Amino acid sequence: MNRGRTGSERIAQKPLGRVALYPPDGCAPAMDDAAIALPVRAPILTPPRHPARRGPIFNQRTAMAGEYEFLQVERKDGIATVVVNRPEKLNALNGATVAELDRVFRSLRDDDEVRGIIVTGAGEKAFVAGADIGELAKMGPLSGVRTSRQGQDAFRFIEKMPKPVIAAVNGFALGGGLELALACHIRVASENARFGLPEVKLGIIPGYGGTVRLPRLIGRGRALELMLTGEMIGAEEAYRIGLVNRVVPQVELIGEAESLLRKIMANGPIAVALALESVDRGLDTTLDDGLVLESNLFGLLAATEDMREGMQAFLEKRPAKFQGR
Ligand code: COA
Repeated sequence: MNRGRTGSERIAQKPLGRVALYPPDGCAPAMDDAAIALPVRAPILTPPRHPARRGPIFNQRTAMAGEYEFLQVERKDGIATVVVNRPEKLNALNGATVAELDRVFRSLRDDDEVRGIIVTGAGEKAFVAGADIGELAKMGPLSGVRTSRQGQDAFRFIEKMPKPVIAAVNGFALGGGLELALACHIRVASENARFGLPEVKLGIIPGYGGTVRLPRLIGRGRALELMLTGEMIGAEEAYRIGLVNRVVPQVELIGEAESLLRKIMANGPIAVALALESVDRGLDTTLDDGLVLESNLFGLLAATEDMREGMQAFLEKRPAKFQGR
């Protein structure tokens, strides 16, 4: 893609004395204030393997107990549920939680047993009430950039997952919490969910992708209203403006997210992965480049056994049995 860079992109790519800010599309982890990161575009496509190749123990509910301090991770029947688990702080994202989110999604991407992911918050009050203000209060300019890039990198990884990721928003989704939900592919909300970007009330701006993703999702004017006032909106309003895909009573939230995921997981997994990739890359390029990408991915799918199986099954009036190859 050949497009003109904005001033901030040019600045972001240029080392400033000892310090380099990170490139807009970089995937490099923030190391220290002097690190110079190269722009890297990681390949998105790592198609999930099919259930036929699953191990025998997968149907048991297994928690990866002890692996994470601030997350609970459960896997059941192809769905991994990641629960941000700091209910006493309304699941606010401290740096350690962001690092754990980054780690768990890397492991889930490469886990052939997992074909869909739900992200939610512990308790009934909050999804995630933002970045941890106690930690943010101590940051300086350089650690501020680093904090922002760490969150952005972790959330971008989620957005680029080749498997569907659904945010089940079960309460407050504020600041970094809304930004986490925005990085997921689909958002389902409980009736008590509340959404907002209150950063300006703290004298900062959203730093985990909110200024970039929210206008893309709901339009510039609505996004700016939320961002500039810092006010919250409820679930119905979030649905009305297209911020969430559906709203259900809280007791039905996880079931609704699971049933949505199962509908997706019944489809060809390579097709699902390439649809995610085409939308992700297509939204960030010109119309013509997006169309070229789409036709190349479309053609690639014609090389899969899944395409033959999907069409054959239709013609034979039976459900398809996709193998993920
Ligand atoms: N960071 C750190 N701690 C947070 C937090 C955050 N983003 N959000 C909530 N908490 C903590 C509170 O400090 C409190 O901890 P304490 O019991 O040790 O004092 C606990 O979570 C419960 O929150 P509380 O404010 O008592 O609940 P509430 O029902 O009265 O209000 C909110 C709920 C969400 C309206 C309120 O907590 C809030 O405004 N949080 C900050 C939201 C925000 O600005 N997020 C963006 C950050 S960049």
